[in-house]
Amino acid sequence: MKLWTGRFSRETDKTAGDFNSSIATDSRMFREDIDASVAHASMLAACGIITKEDGEAITRELKTLKAQFESGELAVDPDCEDIHTFIEAQLTERLGDAGKRVHTARSRNDQVAADIRLYLKKESAAVSEKLNALIGVVDSRAAQYAGTVMPGYTHLQRAQPVTFGAHLSAYSQMFRRDSGRLADAVKRMDFCPLGSGALAGTTYPVDREMTAAYLGFSGVVSNTLDAVSDRDFCMELAAVLSIIMVHLSRFCEEIVLWCSWEFGFIELDDAFATGSSIMPQKKNPDIAELVRGKTGRVFGDLTALLTVMKGLPLAYNKDMQEDKDAIFDAFDTVKMCLDAFTPMLATMKAREKNMLAAASGGFINATDCADYLVSKGLPFRDAYKATGELVAVCIGLGLTLETLPLEEYKKACPLFDEGVYEAVKLENCLKKRGLIPPRSKP
Ligand code: ARG
Repeated sequence: MKLWTGRFSRETDKTAGDFNSSIATDSRMFREDIDASVAHASMLAACGIITKEDGEAITRELKTLKAQFESGELAVDPDCEDIHTFIEAQLTERLGDAGKRVHTARSRNDQVAADIRLYLKKESAAVSEKLNALIGVVDSRAAQYAGTVMPGYTHLQRAQPVTFGAHLSAYSQMFRRDSGRLADAVKRMDFCPLGSGALAGTTYPVDREMTAAYLGFSGVVSNTLDAVSDRDFCMELAAVLSIIMVHLSRFCEEIVLWCSWEFGFIELDDAFATGSSIMPQKKNPDIAELVRGKTGRVFGDLTALLTVMKGLPLAYNKDMQEDKDAIFDAFDTVKMCLDAFTPMLATMKAREKNMLAAASGGFINATDCADYLVSKGLPFRDAYKATGELVAVCIGLGLTLETLPLEEYKKACPLFDEGVYEAVKLENCLKKRGLIPPRSKP
């Protein structure tokens, strides 16, 4: 079923018709398509472009259609070209001529542009809610582990002591920025394209502001060619979603490392880990790995959108029908990942003893040892060198900066005295940096 028969003398080839159809993808926008049609028909009637009676009949029937969809009483016909065609066909079947009037002063080009925006506004709100839930969990886990000492890393080499709470809080900052980016992208797409027609506007005395207000948009897209050819919001949202996935993926990478025997920093709850079909000892972080893996899908969606749009002349081109598969998949994937990740994080446990042991073993207080010499008046570069030599001595003797005898310290630099042992204590290293003081030993 299609809307554009008059000019053609032959039926569309079946394969070509199937290829052209988008109903399998766009039928998920049926609510938005109906809402946009209700707004459009109400505006047409208010402006005297269709009669009040036709306007009322159309809006009443559209609302019935929506209810029948929701209850499962009405199923989308997969032989229709797209969801817009299906809904208009239903209206016409039920109302006759009034149904045929709904497409006055409208094109599927401005219609689909409105539908996607309405749909993606809702999807963005859903992601925003899930992000907020995640931020809440990250913050509460960070507060719980505010005093848990762990090694901080650069180059994945032990660098300086931090707390697990501070490490987790870094992710909270990333997710907060994601949330801001999402809200910002939504603000930019919150304009209504309806009234732009196919590309050049319409000859009818439409009230575009009225339609936009009815649908809850903050305004109208001013240029009609732009209104039907712009998919910046899809690309922008896919970019925002990709960055969310980067953050989730980095977090997951750390979780995978932390729950290895080599690190042993965390234990995943059994409900968020999996076993092996052959190795009985295994407890695998599949959820974290899969979130990391699904990051590739979302980057793929962004790349697809950018590539589809890059060579398109103005205004609408059928290539743009590909936008929906990509952006819907990106939203589906991110929502699924957030749903799996958040409870996994909420239930994982830190193995604080192991973190402390790792923090105590890698000379992560060496900078503090050098700073101690600086406090005695030595220039930092000389203090750095003397400390480096001491680390080598420790490695040779199988000792740490905490256990190295004072005479060895003095050999490296006569400015050392007993005070150095206080300076290299992990808890003092943390205190001096303003990281929350550790609680009593775990
Ligand atoms: N299914 C189409 C899409 O998603 C709807 C717009 C069709 N417009 C057209 N001129 N063929 O882009």
